[in-house]
Parts: sequence; structure tokens; C-alpha cells
Amino acid sequence: MNNSHQKNSEYEKAPHLIFIGFMGSGKTSIGRGLSYKLKRAFNDTDKMIEEMEKMTVSEIFASKGEKYFRTLETQVLRDIRSDLSPKIYSLGGGTPVQMQNQPLIKKCGTVVYLRISPEQVYERLKGDTKRPLLQCSDPLSKIKNLIAVRGPAYERCADIIVDTGDTERDDVMKDVLRKLEQAGWDIPADTKEWMNS
Ligand code: S3P
Repeated sequence: MNNSHQKNSEYEKAPHLIFIGFMGSGKTSIGRGLSYKLKRAFNDTDKMIEEMEKMTVSEIFASKGEKYFRTLETQVLRDIRSDLSPKIYSLGGGTPVQMQNQPLIKKCGTVVYLRISPEQVYERLKGDTKRPLLQCSDPLSKIKNLIAVRGPAYERCADIIVDTGDTERDDVMKDVLRKLEQAGWDIPADTKEWMNS
């Protein structure tokens, strides 16, 4: 491979569909649902990290700290970027916040931001014990503050924005598929039929 070829391929996007958004926005549920509709494998970066470390996300935060977890997120993004077989990935809610991750996320493929309001997140995640950042005395304020900071980062990374929260899962999936179709994606015939049902 000559140098100019190598240089070009460095800038090419990987062919994945990437879901970003706040905790509880439905990245994993929508991503998994669309893996059947688009006939692509699905993976969740939190799960990938848990498998690498043989620990849950909560255990990693407790024993090694958030900073360590954030370095693993960047490592996993690099792996996704170099995987050239088209897949669907959902990223942890904090992954797009680190500046160095933002260009990397964009190079992983088509990025869909599932946007949700703080109140809707609160309703969905009340009583959840698996998100270390929300184990505090006033989770709603924490969610509001985090979304205020993270919203612009999510928007910067996104190719497509879909509002979720009040919407049924199937309708969110159809909305994503319609926007992908408008962006030039080839949607399988049986999925097109389902979209119009
Ligand atoms: C986090 C989101 C979580 C997980 C970790 C930190 C965040 O993923 O990565 O608890 O900083 O928003 P989900 O968005 O899948 O819940």
C-alpha cells in the first residue's frame, strides 16, 4: 500500500451504526431491535468493557475509578474504528463527553443521538442501581446538570438526532430507519414493509 492510500484509509469512516445519548435514552434497546431489522450484529460498549475487565461497570468505578473506566472507553472506540465489518454499537452515555473521543466516534460510522429530557430519564431510571453516577441523594439534579453539559457534545457527534422518551420503542426504531433511508442507507425489503405498517 502506498503512502497516499494509507493516508486516505485513515480518514475513511468505519461502516457502523453508532447510538449515543444519555443513560436511559434507549441506546441498547433500540440498537438491539435494529440489529434484527438491519441484519447486523449488535454490541454494547459497556458490555465489551465488562467482558475485558471481568467486572461490572459499577465494580470498575468502585475499584479502579471513573478515570480508568474512561480510558477503557477510548480503547474500545479504537477497536470499533478498526473493525470494518458493519455492526451496530451502543456507546456508554459518557463516551462522547471526552473531547478526544469525538472525532473518533465520527470515524466509527453513522452516529444517531437518541435525545431525551432529564425528567424522562429520571422516570425511566428511578430505582436503578447499575449506574454509579446516579447513586446520589438528588439524582434528578444530577441528571439535569449532566445533560446540560453533555447535550452539546452529543449534538457535535451526531449525524442524526431522534427524540425519544414519550415515544414507543417501535416508533423510535421506525424514525431511525426513515432517517437512515433519507441519508442513503439501503433498508432490507421486509424492514421497509414493517416501517410502513
Ligand atoms: C455512564 C453511562 C453508562 C455507563 C457508566 C457511565 C455515563 O452507560 O457507561 O455507568 O457517564 O453516562 P449507559 O449510557 O449505557 O447507561
